[in-house]
Amino acid sequence: MTRHLLRDDDLSPAEQAEVLDLALALKKDRWKLKPLEGPQTVAVIFDKSSTRTRVSFAVGIADLGGSPLIISTANSQLGGKETPSDTARVLERQVAAIVWRTYAQAGLEEMARGTRVPVVNALSDDFHPCQLLADLLTIREHKGDLAGLTLSFFGDGQSNMGHSYVLAGVTAGMHVRVAAPEGYGPREDVVADAQRIAAQTGGSVTILVDPLEAAADADVIVTDTWVSMGKEEEKIARIRDLGAYKVTQQTMDAAADGAIFIHCLPADRGYEVDADVIDGPQSVVWDEAENRLHAQKALLVWLLRQQ
Ligand code: CP
Ligand code: NVA
Repeated sequence: MTRHLLRDDDLSPAEQAEVLDLALALKKDRWKLKPLEGPQTVAVIFDKSSTRTRVSFAVGIADLGGSPLIISTANSQLGGKETPSDTARVLERQVAAIVWRTYAQAGLEEMARGTRVPVVNALSDDFHPCQLLADLLTIREHKGDLAGLTLSFFGDGQSNMGHSYVLAGVTAGMHVRVAAPEGYGPREDVVADAQRIAAQTGGSVTILVDPLEAAADADVIVTDTWVSMGKEEEKIARIRDLGAYKVTQQTMDAAADGAIFIHCLPADRGYEVDADVIDGPQSVVWDEAENRLHAQKALLVWLLRQQ
């Protein structure tokens, strides 16, 4: 059966662990393993800007022995004259998988319904599940077993990153805290889905307003830009509303001994995080950025094996 990764809870807890194990194995033997059978092309489509996602998918697909086909929607028919499902029907005859960075989650769902090949969400307005696989891999490398760790996210809990931490974190059995002001908490349906998963995994999700309460004894401190792609017109209001949720050294000092700082990048130093934190000794953001490569290679191999 064709499997897709449109949101983080498309992988069960056991499947998420399997992908992370495979990512570690692929990272260890980067130059030895070429697990894609035969020459396979993967279409990687961008409606929004990207550095990490573009590079890591292109390099990762090539590492696996496949060919990346990078498409900007500005130069294609998708998003203009052609629907996601018609595009999917054209692509599935020629490519092994479709990776798409877009705005609406509904477009990804339409793409997935319209095709027999796996569709991967490379960031939508609502979720960024590829980033979470890389983040969980990074946390595992630095902190060991994920189950039982506390991860605290600060800022825009309604963003793709906020939602993905909630869903992927509880899938891994983590205790996820979101510190956000009124009006910036994660969507209720996402929290409800996370609570259902947490009941199986022993994780939890807690929404807090007080940032220092959220930081207390946390193992992982995380934030993201206050102005996600597509929200540029709200920049001034967001800086005003989210100012108290900046990650500072005081936040790190309130966290557990040995806590790490992660950020999906790109970062706005001085806004969501101070430079001395993101460039300081507790920050593992460069490992995290590298892990996009290993995590996505594992994901593609895993999805193609389900075909
Ligand atoms: N973290 C992330 O997805 O970065 P890019 O926008 O550069 O791809
Ligand atoms: N929340 C950010 C993530 C960037 C990788 C955005 O959507 O712009």
